[in-house]
Amino acid sequence: MSDDVHFYEPRHGHRLPHDPFNAIVGPRPIGWISTRDRKGCLNLAPYSFFNAFNYTPPIIGFSSNGYKDTVRNIEQTGEFAWNLVTRPLAEAMNKTCADVPPEVDEFVLAGLTPLASRVIGVPRVAESPVSFECRLTQLVQLQTVRGAKVQTWLTLGEVVAVHISKALLNQGVYDTARAHPVLRGGGAADYFEIGPERLFRMARPR
Ligand SMILES: Cc1cc2nc3c(=O)[nH]c(=O)nc-3n(C[C@H](O)[C@H](O)[C@H](O)COP(=O)(O)O)c2cc1C
Repeated sequence: MSDDVHFYEPRHGHRLPHDPFNAIVGPRPIGWISTRDRKGCLNLAPYSFFNAFNYTPPIIGFSSNGYKDTVRNIEQTGEFAWNLVTRPLAEAMNKTCADVPPEVDEFVLAGLTPLASRVIGVPRVAESPVSFECRLTQLVQLQTVRGAKVQTWLTLGEVVAVHISKALLNQGVYDTARAHPVLRGGGAADYFEIGPERLFRMARPR
């Protein structure tokens, strides 16, 4: 076994000061998810175990470690909105992860404006330049290789409507870097901001 390689089996612990897993699988885009509970109370929270999984129809998903308010609301209403986190919105996003009772509206907590969606009944974040309106397609409780249930829920939703600030379109082409999206790194507090200087192009082999 090489001395140059740190090897571990996660079920026996990583033996490092901080779990490297989410620093390795990173930086990750953030699912800033707005929902509404059955009584109408609004909720907004960030989820970085998040990604896109299909083009047509577009499907996105995020994982909740524990059955959190966001998952409960989506199970109740079948709807959620995804909002892009950009650098000017990073601090507000961070405020919305506070562990507060379900009746606390994180829009108010973070000084954000709920804006009515067009297709679903859940509002999006007015300050965010891109939002997806989504309908729940699958709610999957994760399990181990031995089939034991994990207290984690993967929520998948079809994107049924898209809002893009025209300022992010460059001759009609969506310009990822122009939005200055924020991605989550590892550790307790690492984030990355994407700007145009990180762009490189590589065509696929024919
Ligand atoms: C950048 C960021 C990413 C996060 N990603 C996740 C995640 O992927 N899964 C999760 O369960 N919690 C995640 N959290 C923590 C939740 O946002 C937090 O538990 C929040 O209170 C959940 O809100 P809710 O109970 O209203 O759904 C993240 C927090 C931050 C700041």
